Amino acid sequence: MARLLITGGAGFIGSHTCVVLLQAGHELVVIDNFHNSCPEACRRVERLTGRTLVLEQADVRDGPRLNSVFDRHGRFDGVIHFAGLKAVGESVKEPLLYWHVNVCGSRTLLQAMAAHGCRTLVFSSSATLYGNPDSNPIAETAPIRPVNPYGQSKAAVERMSRDVAESQPGCKGWRLACLRYFNPVGAHPSGEIGEAPQGIPDNLFPFISQVAMGERSSLDVFGGDWPTPDGSGVRDYIHVMDLAAGHCVTLEHLLDGQPQLLTLNLGSGCGTSVLQALAAFERVVGRSIPHRIVARRPGDVAMTVADPGRAAAVLGWQTERTLAEMCADGWHWQQRNPLGFG
Ligand code: UD1
Repeated sequence: MARLLITGGAGFIGSHTCVVLLQAGHELVVIDNFHNSCPEACRRVERLTGRTLVLEQADVRDGPRLNSVFDRHGRFDGVIHFAGLKAVGESVKEPLLYWHVNVCGSRTLLQAMAAHGCRTLVFSSSATLYGNPDSNPIAETAPIRPVNPYGQSKAAVERMSRDVAESQPGCKGWRLACLRYFNPVGAHPSGEIGEAPQGIPDNLFPFISQVAMGERSSLDVFGGDWPTPDGSGVRDYIHVMDLAAGHCVTLEHLLDGQPQLLTLNLGSGCGTSVLQALAAFERVVGRSIPHRIVARRPGDVAMTVADPGRAAAVLGWQTERTLAEMCADGWHWQQRNPLGFG
């Protein structure tokens, strides 16, 4: 059992990870500023697991507040850092905001950890930092070439983590992991927690769900002329519960191991096109979902698929849930919670 601080634990990936961590017996203090999430997610996590967690409203950029969290809750064995902004389009319009929240927030957190002798951190990174890859599947050794401020901010935090790890021989006791997520989708199978995007969803799965619900009239498939088997974009979708399990085993691996910096892809290794994802969703819903093929979305790439071999070798972790389960669980959540957390 470990005592853990979870930043951004009321969000989509954070809340699912809290379920897995509580079920594994860990004790959690969650902080969140509720900018893009709500406390109800944590209450539902408690109901699902039959366990309690401590929830506080706090912003990771607020150093005195973070120090107070560390002071009041005693020693933490480790931190999982989800808190941050993640909308690519917004990051292009508001780059300073993204550098402030994602980079300054991570720096403030690392400083508070160092001041309180906590040197184990799992950081939410993203496959977005590979940009337009030279080839697929993408290994962790591929060049880092982010193409937007959101990706730049993730790359900067990875760089900062490396500097911290190398600041003293033998990492001076730091145990750090940067987890590069591919495309997280789906929801907890209970339908109690899931993704609740505000406004018009940017991402494919929430958009398909809303069209299937009749909230939107049709899906725009961005590009039918990509150099892929069916002409639509190919991604590596990962069920959020597999991703959550990946965080739990990474954290436990760090706590059991030597000081180190671990950089891992978390993906399935399978490519799925937009049209294949749509067909899988239609099978779950039991009817066709209106769509039309339109121009490519600026900034998109043809294909990103993970090479998940390092995570399998180091952690013994691999994805277990199928595309059909991603669609079924996402649809179940959407039907039960048409207004998200209300
Ligand atoms: C996007 C972000 C990425 C972020 C990830 C989180 C961009 C350029 N990248 O990835 O940084 O980490 O979300 O999950 O925004 N699509 C449609 N119609 C839609 C929406 C999407 O055809 O209405 C297509 C896209 O062109 C793409 C695929 O669906 O081929 C997946 O898109 P999306 O879910 O937005 O994820 P990414 O663009 O891969």
